[in-house]
Amino acid sequence: MELKEAIKLRRSARTFETKPVEREKVEEILRAAMQAPSAHNQQPWEFLVVEDANKIKELSQLHQYTAPLAGAPVAIVVLMNRKRLKVEAFWQQDISAAVQNMMLQAVDLGLGTLWMGVAPKEEYMTKVKEMCQLPEEVEAFGLFAVGYTEKNRFKDRFDESRIHWGSY
Ligand SMILES: Cc1cc2nc3c(=O)[nH]c(=O)nc-3n(C[C@H](O)[C@H](O)[C@H](O)COP(=O)(O)O)c2cc1C
Repeated sequence: MELKEAIKLRRSARTFETKPVEREKVEEILRAAMQAPSAHNQQPWEFLVVEDANKIKELSQLHQYTAPLAGAPVAIVVLMNRKRLKVEAFWQQDISAAVQNMMLQAVDLGLGTLWMGVAPKEEYMTKVKEMCQLPEEVEAFGLFAVGYTEKNRFKDRFDESRIHWGSY
C-alpha cells in the first residue's frame, strides 16, 4: 500500500473481530513506532503488549472512552521510561509521533487501531501504572487497541481555511 493511501484510510476502529493478530504483525507495528523522530533522538518509548483477555478488559475500564478496548485481541500500553529521557519537555510529542507511525503501519497490514489517551492526566497515568505494575521510572502514555476490523472509510478533512500562506 502506498503511504498516501494508508494516511487516507486510517480511521479509529472501535469494534474488532475475535481473530487473533499475528505476533509478526504486532512486531511490525512496533518496528514502525521505533522509527519515529524524537527530541535529541531520545526514543523514550517502551511498549507493554497485552494479549490476556482479562487484563485487556481491566484496562478497558480506565475511563469512559476506553470501553472499545474490551473487544480488541491485542492492547498495547504505550510507555515512557524516564531513564531514557535526555530532555523532560518533549516526551509526549516523541511518543505521539511513534503512535502515528503505529497506526499507519497497522493500516498497511490490514489492521484497525484505536489510540486512547492516558497522559497527561495524572489520575489515568497512576491507574495504569498500578494496573500494569509498572516500575517507578516508567509512565503510561496511552492505550492502543489493535485488531482486525471492517475496512476503513476515507473522510476528506481538507480545509483550506486552516492554511495561512505567508502571513496570518
Ligand atoms: C490523544 C488522543 C486520545 C484519544 N482518546 C480516545 C479515547 O479515549 N477513546 C476513543 O474512542 N477514541 C480516542 N481517540 C480517537 C479520536 O476520537 C479520533 O481520532 C477522532 O475522533 C478522529 O477520528 P478518526 O481517528 O477515525 O479519524 C483519541 C485520539 C487521540 C489523538
